[in-house]
Parts: sequence; structure tokens; C-alpha cells
Amino acid sequence: MASYGAGSRLGNARDDGILIYHFRRGCEGENMHPIMARLTQDHARLTQVLTMLEGLLDRFHEGVEPDYELMNELLEYMNTYADVVHHPTEDLIYQRVLEKGTERHDVFEILIRQHAGLSQVTKRFRKSIEGILNEEVLLREDVEANGRELVAVNRAHMALEDDEAFPIARETLTNEDWNAIEALAPVADDPVFGNPDPQRFKALYRQLNEQTHN
Ligand SMILES: [Fe+2]
Ligand SMILES: [Fe+2]
Repeated sequence: MASYGAGSRLGNARDDGILIYHFRRGCEGENMHPIMARLTQDHARLTQVLTMLEGLLDRFHEGVEPDYELMNELLEYMNTYADVVHHPTEDLIYQRVLEKGTERHDVFEILIRQHAGLSQVTKRFRKSIEGILNEEVLLREDVEANGRELVAVNRAHMALEDDEAFPIARETLTNEDWNAIEALAPVADDPVFGNPDPQRFKALYRQLNEQTHN
């Protein structure tokens, strides 16, 4: 998808390459507030989740039935942690940057708008997967297109944050700002990578375990 070119850079990179890329970016800066360190770590994990989802879509494209349980759990993760904790925390940061003033207010306005759109894209794809499981008649190409869109828009969104929004936020906000943001930010733990909920994400754990031991 040409319009999401920024994301394909990550998509073509190898899994471990992506993680190293994010890790380096996350550790480069001095005096990084824990909130920003956590968001950077979230991006590395979300990237891993998107790569898994892409692998399932490739199987689906080849006509093989993918692991729907895993796919559903990946979407559950995105609809809960990303939409409930990650994006709302970023919204607090972006709003604060906008209040303080920045020449690049367009970037922050776009990202805030995209947050609402991302959860809709996830819900749409989730619905089409549920449709398949309920044996509704759906075009496989449409289902796949919804899934590819989800992967592409999330990658492009994170790339814009990593490349533009996060560096500007770190330059603009003071320690006082970060502490105020931290006080307002949702506190729920990451249910997969942080404080695990293995009953809810059974297939996802299995997959992560296999990846670690291969
Ligand atoms: Fe975001
Ligand atoms: Fe983000």
C-alpha cells in the first residue's frame, strides 16, 4: 500500500532487526522519563505482534486456515492494551505538547485523530474474523485486505511517532510535564508482556514461547 510507505521500512526488516532498532532508539537518549521508555518498549512489542499477525495473513492468503485462536488473541491484545493504555497515554503527551506549542502541531493532531481510527480498524478486522468463525459468507480477499490495512496503518502510525512525535515531545516537555502526565496516565499492566494473563492469551504465549526457543 503506497500511502503507508513509512511502515514498509519496518515490515521488510527482520523480526530481531526490528526489536534491535526499537531498543536502540529507546536507550539512546539520556534522562528519558519512564513513561517514554515504556511507550518505546510498547512499540517494540506491538511490532512483534504485527509481525505475527502478518505471518497469519500470509497463511490465510495461501489458502491455509491460520490459527484463528492466535489471531483473535492478537486482536484482543491490541483492542485492550494498545487502545486502553498505550494510546491514551500518548494522547496526554500530545495534548501537552500542543498546549505548550510546537511548529509541528500537524503531526500531533494527525496522531490523536489516528488513535480513534486505529481502534476502528482493529474492530473491523476482528468482526470479519468472527464472521469466518461463524461461517458467514465473506470474501477472503476482503478479510485479508482488512488485516493488511490493520498492519500497515499501525506500522505507519508508530513510525510517525518514533521519527517525529517522540523526539519533539522529549525536547518540549519538562520533568514537571512528564510527572503530570504520569499521574494522569492509565496504570494497567501489559497483559501479555508485562503482568501476564496466560488464561486469556493462551495461544499467544505458546507462539511467543516457540519463537524464543527457536
Ligand atoms: Fe499512537
Ligand atoms: Fe504509539
